[in-house]
Amino acid sequence: MEAGKSLFENIKGSWNQELFRNNQSITLEVGCGKGEYTIGLSRKFADRNFIGVDIKGDRLWVGSRQAIKENLYNAAFLRTQVQFLDQFFEVGELDEIWVTFPDPRPKERDEKRRLTHPNYLAIYKKLLSKGGWVKFKTDNTGLFNYTLDLLQTGVIPVTELTYTHDLYKSNLFLEHFDIMTKYERKFSSQGENIKYLKFKFQN
Ligand SMILES: C[S@@+](CC[C@H](N)C(=O)[O-])C[C@H]1O[C@@H](n2cnc3c(N)ncnc32)[C@H](O)[C@@H]1O
Repeated sequence: MEAGKSLFENIKGSWNQELFRNNQSITLEVGCGKGEYTIGLSRKFADRNFIGVDIKGDRLWVGSRQAIKENLYNAAFLRTQVQFLDQFFEVGELDEIWVTFPDPRPKERDEKRRLTHPNYLAIYKKLLSKGGWVKFKTDNTGLFNYTLDLLQTGVIPVTELTYTHDLYKSNLFLEHFDIMTKYERKFSSQGENIKYLKFKFQN
C-alpha cells in the first residue's frame, strides 16, 4: 500500500483507523527486505493486518508493488530504521513482531546493530500488546545462539520461549505456512539449517 508522507506523520496509534480501516490485529516484520513474508502472510490471513519495515526503499518498493498488484489491503510497508519505530507506533499497538533473517553483525563492535540486541528487544516490548509474540528466523548460528543466550539467561525476562535449530525438521515448521523469504531461500539452498525461536515478554 502506498501512502503520502502526511498520512505517516499522523499514523502513530491510528494504523487501523487511518490506513487499514478495520479492527484487525497488526503483525510487524522488521528488516523485511522485499517483503516476501509480509506479502505471504497477508495473502493467507485476510483477517489480520501486516506491516513490513525496512530502511532500504528499493527493496520495500518490490513488496509494495506486489501488494498493490494483488489488492492486498491488509499489507503495508514503512521505510524507517527499527530504532525509530516508536515514532510510528503507539505503546501496545502491535500484536506480533517477526524478525526475519536480520544481518548477523558478527563483529563484537557491531553488537548494538543486531536486531535482537536488548535495545531493540526493549522497543519490541514497548510496542507489543500484552501476550504478543516475537518470532525470529535466521540461518546464522552465531546470531541465533547470541539471541537464545540473552533470552535463556534472563537478560530480557520472557515466557513461552520455544526454539529449534532445524526448523524444516521440526514440528514448528507448520507455523511458517510454506513462505520463504529471499534470504531464507538463499541460505537453505546452500545447506544451512534454518533456526527459529519465539517468545513472549514477561510483563
Ligand atoms: C539480510 S536482509 C533480510 C531481508 C528479508 N527479511 C529476508 O529474509 O529476505 C536484512 C534487512 O534488514 C534491513 N535492516 C538492517 N538493519 C535495519 C534497521 N536498523 N532498520 C531497518 N531495516 C534494517 C536491511 O536493509 C535488509 O533489507
